[in-house]
Amino acid sequence: MKIVTIVGARPQFIKAAAVSRALRPRHREVLVHTGQHYDYSMSGVFFDGLELPAPDVNLGVGSGLHGAQTGSMLAGIEGILLAERPDWVLVYGDTNSTLAGALAASKLHLPVAHVEAGLRSFNRSMPEEINRVVADHLSDRLLCPSQTAVDNLAREGISRNVHLVGDVMLDVLNWARQRAAPQGPAILKRLGLEERRYVLATVHRSENTDQATRLSGIMDALNAIPEPVLFPVHPRARKALAAAGLAAKPHVRLIEPLGYFEMLVVANSARLILTDSGGVQKEAYWLGVPCVTLREETEWVETVEAGWNVLVGSNPEKILNAVRSVAPPACRPALYGDGQVAARCVDLLE
Ligand code: UD1
Ligand code: UDP
Repeated sequence: MKIVTIVGARPQFIKAAAVSRALRPRHREVLVHTGQHYDYSMSGVFFDGLELPAPDVNLGVGSGLHGAQTGSMLAGIEGILLAERPDWVLVYGDTNSTLAGALAASKLHLPVAHVEAGLRSFNRSMPEEINRVVADHLSDRLLCPSQTAVDNLAREGISRNVHLVGDVMLDVLNWARQRAAPQGPAILKRLGLEERRYVLATVHRSENTDQATRLSGIMDALNAIPEPVLFPVHPRARKALAAAGLAAKPHVRLIEPLGYFEMLVVANSARLILTDSGGVQKEAYWLGVPCVTLREETEWVETVEAGWNVLVGSNPEKILNAVRSVAPPACRPALYGDGQVAARCVDLLE
């Protein structure tokens, strides 16, 4: 088969690394990078570190308003699909690159497979929620990470070609874990961190970065935490912090975004993780590190139900209270599959 894979943003390079590794021995993959993320620390570092083959095409779309960005992806992807006429168009997650890939393919009557189908926050003010809903309704194979996702689709009338496969991010984590382990002590030393004696923070959701009151609430909390905080800053957050004139106290280390291996090491050794990232919530769970989520809702409800993730939003008192009192239970049931999910996705395309 010929598969055109559409990626464009950081978490998609990570997810595609697993599926691409399972796909390429058996099929021809044409990898299309929309160019949504373009800084080396947001894109190239993942191709290099995760051994993801270089893109066959980079559309170089770059940043922009939602309509302009998605529109230029749509035009670029359409041209490639017309030339390639693949058996499947493979899209991941919930970004504008996902939406453009699914829409361009379905208008050309090409079958779409969606990895990470069925997730819902039930909050339509999130751009990701709109992207997910549309991508799912246009997809011909819906590859779900959880039973919750399958149930969400059923409630929207989608039950055909829906498969509970698990989460490909666990495949990547398992692949990278052994490789990252020997570098662990050197990475912690370079960053001046001691095992379990710091908090890791990531923030990038538009709901947090684009509302100055939310961002300042989060920064107030980080500034009041009585232990070192490592904060690899997404470019969207860096701009928002500068625009709002928000400063970090010296114990809050604002650094460039990390590569996957470094991120895995610092996540694994943190006492606690504060995040609004979808991927980081799951990684915290798999690594057995308590997570405090800086959002009002999550798509990864199982991590909350298991007692390892707590939703606090952006209120500084609530954040600090959770940082002080977080106490996950001893048990941590397996969630989101068995780490062999990419191969299952390829089987289902076949
Ligand atoms: C996007 C996804 C989000 C995902 C996140 C992963 C959408 C609508 N959002 O959010 O779902 O969780 O990626 O990280 O698709 N920028 C740079 N360099 C880059 C990329 C971006 O400086 O390499 C800056 C630009 O100022 C840009 C801003 O970051 O305007 C936001 O980038 P964009 O791709 O629009 O959305 P993300 O916030 O990254
Ligand atoms: N990540 C990374 N370096 C960082 C921050 C995050 O490698 O500095 C990884 C993280 O471990 C996870 C993925 O990026 O695998 C999550 O991406 P992001 O938070 O950008 O998007 P989301 O998952 O929220 O869509």
